[in-house]
Amino acid sequence: MVQLTLPKNSKVKEGKNHEAPKDAKKPRTFRVYRWNPDDKENPRIDSYEVDIAKSGPMVLDALIYIKNEIDASLTFRRSCREGVCGSCAMNINGMNTLACTRHVDDYKGDIKISPLPHMPVMKDLVPDLTHVYAQYNAIEPWMKTESPAPSREHLQSAKDANLLNGDDGKGPAACILCFCCSTSCPSYWWNGDRFLGPAILLQAYRWIADTRDEATGERLDQLEDPFRLYRCHTIMNCTNTCPKGLNPAKAIAEIKKLMIERKA
Ligand code: SF4
Ligand code: SF4
Ligand code: FES
Repeated sequence: MVQLTLPKNSKVKEGKNHEAPKDAKKPRTFRVYRWNPDDKENPRIDSYEVDIAKSGPMVLDALIYIKNEIDASLTFRRSCREGVCGSCAMNINGMNTLACTRHVDDYKGDIKISPLPHMPVMKDLVPDLTHVYAQYNAIEPWMKTESPAPSREHLQSAKDANLLNGDDGKGPAACILCFCCSTSCPSYWWNGDRFLGPAILLQAYRWIADTRDEATGERLDQLEDPFRLYRCHTIMNCTNTCPKGLNPAKAIAEIKKLMIERKA
């Protein structure tokens, strides 16, 4: 699947080239999108030759090596380095993914890295997530109940918990909010101001499917809208790109099914 490799704000030209030292054992070239709002210049692509024998095997290792050893100005997000925080989501050779879970050896030739597509860029590989988090807040991602609170925790059967966790651990509760899916969705590219997109709709479904939550009708009312939900046209980019192997398209289909069932 081919996606946009560069954000839409740009005329991108070639930038600096940083060559590997002559004694590099395993040099690989990374072509990285660079843009700094303070420079008042157009974006550029900088090339970095990295000795993978020194940096470590993952794409994120190479980026950290570049920042520590070659060019401290390179800016990107990362935290956990093991695929659980979602911070290092970016576009690598045309696919949205997590840099910390991708081996450099997975790629042949130059490795092209750009920010998640169709998001405003704050700097280099850092997208502005203000809008997606406002959308996340809008679905009220917390448990809502009217019944008196239990004396201890809200218990759930294993079967009900499975609706959230999935038989294979790939249920909606496993979403790490990396937004690889939403930023690969053509409907979200063009209607992201009003369409909630697959990441947020998966999260909405996580609360709809939670048998402890007592606001299902209210949650469905909130989604019953030609844009918020129904701009999904089942293109499936979201499911194909999710680096955690989740299925946001299925979650969206489940919400649509519940909409039909409650009207029947
Ligand atoms: S299935 Fe829906 S949400 Fe997923 S990429 Fe397609 S249009 Fe977007
Ligand atoms: S569904 Fe997958 S791609 Fe989308 S935000 Fe969650 S973990 Fe990331
Ligand atoms: S650094 Fe946390 S998911 Fe990559």
